[in-house]
Amino acid sequence: MSHQTVLVLDFGGQYNQLIARRVRECGVYCEVKPYTTPMAELKAMEPVGIIFTGGPNSVYDPKSPQVDPAIFGWGVPILGICYGCQLLAHNLGGRVTAAQEDSAREYGKTETFFNTGCKLFKGLPEKGVSWMSHGDYMEKVPDGFALVAHSDACPNVAICDESRGFYGVQFHPEVNHTENGTGMLRNFLYEICGAKGDWTMGDYKETAIRQIREKVGDGKVLLALSGGVDSSVAAALVAEAVGSQLTCVFVDHGLMRLNEGDEVEVAFQKWDINFVRANAEDLFLGKLAGVSDPERKRKIIGEEFIRVFEAEAKKIGQVDYLVQGTIYPDVIESGAGDAAVIKSHHNVGGLPDYVDFKEIIEPLRMLFKDEVRQLGRELELPEYLVMRQPFPGPGLAIRVIGEITKEKLDTLRLADFIFRDEVAKAHLEGTMNQYFAVLTNMRSVGVMGDGRTYDYTLALRSVTTTDFMTADWTRIPYEVLDRVSVRIVNEVPHINRIVYDITSKPPATIEWE
Ligand code: XMP
Repeated sequence: MSHQTVLVLDFGGQYNQLIARRVRECGVYCEVKPYTTPMAELKAMEPVGIIFTGGPNSVYDPKSPQVDPAIFGWGVPILGICYGCQLLAHNLGGRVTAAQEDSAREYGKTETFFNTGCKLFKGLPEKGVSWMSHGDYMEKVPDGFALVAHSDACPNVAICDESRGFYGVQFHPEVNHTENGTGMLRNFLYEICGAKGDWTMGDYKETAIRQIREKVGDGKVLLALSGGVDSSVAAALVAEAVGSQLTCVFVDHGLMRLNEGDEVEVAFQKWDINFVRANAEDLFLGKLAGVSDPERKRKIIGEEFIRVFEAEAKKIGQVDYLVQGTIYPDVIESGAGDAAVIKSHHNVGGLPDYVDFKEIIEPLRMLFKDEVRQLGRELELPEYLVMRQPFPGPGLAIRVIGEITKEKLDTLRLADFIFRDEVAKAHLEGTMNQYFAVLTNMRSVGVMGDGRTYDYTLALRSVTTTDFMTADWTRIPYEVLDRVSVRIVNEVPHINRIVYDITSKPPATIEWE
């Protein structure tokens, strides 16, 4: 099956995959290619439209990324965004210069006025906020181009030459801060490129399955399944593609939430794959006995995880491919350089060199989290897996503060379940991005019936965040907190006090350890 394709030519801007994602949201297949891709390769893709992304450079700098000028004689419509707009102007006879202080340099939300006679803005409001982030300025617009948007500070916010299908905007239509930005991209696709809207997540699934089959042939594939959304969706996709050639190794370290291990196992029963559940609870708890330092816990779990995984992988023999559930935000974060290590995150995604394989397959690499969830639904994974909140690799080990015992884990599991259950009953999931219980190491005096108790304090934690780098504590209604508290103290032995964590991140982190 072939789809109409839109090409996003990448000039190094930070929103490039976001552009691709918006195009896909509009029902058009899209691929991001580096600006250095040769013309012949671009032509072979037969795109119906091209988008030049933003980028950090100045077009008049001789070392800045350029395009093969032949692209302008090709006859395919082009939309230039920010740097891409300046590149268009620069190549077609306009002049771009550094904006002087206080003149046309613009950052942030800017009120903008649009000429809705231009196809790019057709049917949209004449006035709206757009998100600007450019230091350069189009001093002279190329011949044949019309000015079709302006702001108070800048007369040249958008340009077009409709006869040749060239459009340029100084702002970023792909970010949410730009009102009607998606409408503009939709206009580019449908009004200008003549897109038919022939692409869906179902197509993505079919294409990915076909590609995995072609690549894998009759080879053997191995995947470490954590039960998280990304590894589960990657597993389901590969299971659909190559069935019994896939072995999923699910290392059950005994640090999962209530019933979680069984749920994961059940979810994969419908595929004819080799599902290995390595029940390693005793091993992990043995290694963790007496350990209370959070970093040591993480290290032990990370190392044991790899060891168990490796032992299972060896039983399979030679493996040709290793699947990883890397998603697009992971790709960005891993490029983030040398930020200080606050916590050494152990991710089951990051696996060892120990297992011998030919190649890594990362079928979700282009997708954002909510697209991964959508794909999971296409693959008919159960909703509780698809909508699962993030869960740290070391699991409940970093939510039992101090030394870990099976009893403490069981206590925490039940309390955490009650918290999640009450949140679900109150339909609050949409307002909380991560919520869980923490078994503190503190005991206090209480009274139950006629007797004195001396039991553990449980902390409830819930955060609202988009990126998990910063987070605010969730304003959970008091009635819900009250129900959770009453139920936990009544139903869970050894807990006699409940507190709610009201610190944001920073200065706190989301997890307690
Ligand atoms: P913090 O506690 O650093 O957490 O604010 C940010 C996000 O990362 C998760 N987290 C982990 N994930 N291995 C993981 O895979 C870890 O060791 C780990 N520690 C924290 C945390 O749950 C939150 O979503």
